[in-house]
Amino acid sequence: MKALVLAGGSGTRLRPFSYSMPKQLIPIANTPVLVHVLRNISDLGVTEVGVIVGTRGPEIEAVLGDGSRYGLRLTYIPQDAPRGLAHTVAIARDFLGDDDFVMYLGDNMLPDGIGGIAEEFTARRPAAQVVVYKVPDPRSFGVAELGAEGEVLRLVEKPQQPRSDMALIGVYFFTRAIHEAVDAIAPSARGELEITDAVQWLVSSGAEVRASTYDGYWKDTGRVEDVLECNTHLLDGLHRRIDGDVDPSSVLVGQVVVEAGARVLRSRIEGPAIIGTGTIVQDSRVGPYTSMGRDCLVTDSWLEGSIALDEASVTGVHGLRDSLIGRAASVGTTGHGAEHHCLVVGDHTRVEVAA
Ligand code: TTP
Repeated sequence: MKALVLAGGSGTRLRPFSYSMPKQLIPIANTPVLVHVLRNISDLGVTEVGVIVGTRGPEIEAVLGDGSRYGLRLTYIPQDAPRGLAHTVAIARDFLGDDDFVMYLGDNMLPDGIGGIAEEFTARRPAAQVVVYKVPDPRSFGVAELGAEGEVLRLVEKPQQPRSDMALIGVYFFTRAIHEAVDAIAPSARGELEITDAVQWLVSSGAEVRASTYDGYWKDTGRVEDVLECNTHLLDGLHRRIDGDVDPSSVLVGQVVVEAGARVLRSRIEGPAIIGTGTIVQDSRVGPYTSMGRDCLVTDSWLEGSIALDEASVTGVHGLRDSLIGRAASVGTTGHGAEHHCLVVGDHTRVEVAA
């Protein structure tokens, strides 16, 4: 079996971060989403992985390299524009050959792994096997209507009156039968070649299409809220490791990681929390549920439930919560006694100040 990882797309929902980085490189517990994805794929025993990349391909390649450090061989497949999930299958045709493959959206987090589902697929080898997840409101998802034996009867994209609460999530297993389906479909109303249309084409032509229910933790990291929630979930599994410098007047509580080269001075770090390499935390309170990337600076601040990307700085801010701070961004104060806020806010940015 091969894998096809989708790391193109436009990432509009994750602006402004996606202006300066591919969303699939957003760190969750200080590891890019794409690396979590590749680890799950490697756990299946798959080694040949095609990675669909858009205009930000070089940044992705700089991080993942040839994949050897994950035990994988990566082939980068450029997509000229986000023309849909089924379009990625079409442009990966030479890479995929006639092999079975798992298609994995590069912004989806399934930290409990997909081994059981992969086994179901290889045991039975239906033409396609989708993965479904029970959601409270399926109206914004592709929804699968299932028969008693787990067979897919129908797929409906964003139904107004859903007949099932089983939403399709970002992992699909295919045999080569999918290629005929992809060739047969036309672009949808939004101009994309939809994978749901290709899978529905298989169902309509009588091919066996099955669904597996995923009951672990799942998150599509397409929006800031999802990134923060997923970070919280992963930090819950953190194990204490102190490789950096912590001065005697600092206190570390619970599951705290202080990476090599980080420094904690006169501060309290409440786990779960990660302080990345080169980051300095001084006279501050950080955590719980906070991860800081490399070379950040936190001075005289309180910060919790947040993610700071590399080189971010926070100075003099008491009570920053549920925040995602971009690379080399700085958050500070206007000084003692000032009664105004001073903001330099980029496009599609959101700022919420205490009322
Ligand atoms: P989406 O999150 O559905 O699309 P998007 O990246 O354009 O995001 P947004 O809606 O915020 O604008 O895509 C799911 C995954 O598939 C994501 O990792 C991007 C990738 N993708 C491609 O590689 N090529 C494509 O043509 C599309 C549509 C998505």
